[in-house]
Amino acid sequence: MNKYTNIADYYDSFTDYYDLLMTQGYYDYQGMANAVYSLIKDGRKKILELGVGTGLFAEKLLALAPEAEFTGVDITLSMLNIARQRLGEWGNLVEADIYNMNLQETFDIAVSSRGVWVISQRGDQTDLRNHTKDIDEDIKGLINVAKHLRQDGLFMLSIQGEHKSYQQNLPTGIVYSQEIEKIGENDEIKSIEKTYFFKRDGEILAQQKLKLNYIKQ
Ligand SMILES: C[S@@+](CC[C@H](N)C(=O)[O-])C[C@H]1O[C@@H](n2cnc3c(N)ncnc32)[C@H](O)[C@@H]1O
Repeated sequence: MNKYTNIADYYDSFTDYYDLLMTQGYYDYQGMANAVYSLIKDGRKKILELGVGTGLFAEKLLALAPEAEFTGVDITLSMLNIARQRLGEWGNLVEADIYNMNLQETFDIAVSSRGVWVISQRGDQTDLRNHTKDIDEDIKGLINVAKHLRQDGLFMLSIQGEHKSYQQNLPTGIVYSQEIEKIGENDEIKSIEKTYFFKRDGEILAQQKLKLNYIKQ
């Protein structure tokens, strides 16, 4: 049996705490929304978000550009349910796996705000980080994203620092911690195992292990 949980179960396990962690200021949702908005102003109106999650990026975009035609895809239903509450009637939310989705339409911009892919920077090294897929699968996934873009469409990725082990106190007495362990590296890929915990008064509220790959340079 694979010791890593599948991605939908991984996110499903901490949907209730996700927003608490993500809204502590580390992630620049506004900056990402501003970047997309500057392109919307140039006439690119159809936006596809890969891994919309609970809609934190989409909410910022809605405030700037309610006229945008927004579609958010995610594989985790519990995350989509929160996104729907957050976005009200705005946007089309679709439960699907980005690697094999078939939305039967094309978009001006596909955005991954740490959704499925992210650009990871560690020192002068710039890698593409993904969720557990190997390079061949990943290429198929990227080709599938390309199929959903118009001829001159853009693929935009957020940039994030390298994953590190740390612990953080969150509001409502919850403590988040993550432990990162390198589990493999070759010329093309570095793989890490990320184990996270949400605890209150020492009691584990949620815990999960995930494998992530950095596809180098
Ligand atoms: C770190 S969250 C980011 C959510 C949101 N973009 C944000 O910035 O808060 C990653 C999201 O991607 C989704 N996801 C991961 N792999 C996916 C896949 N293959 N297809 C669709 N969604 C996926 C997860 O369910 C999760 O909601």
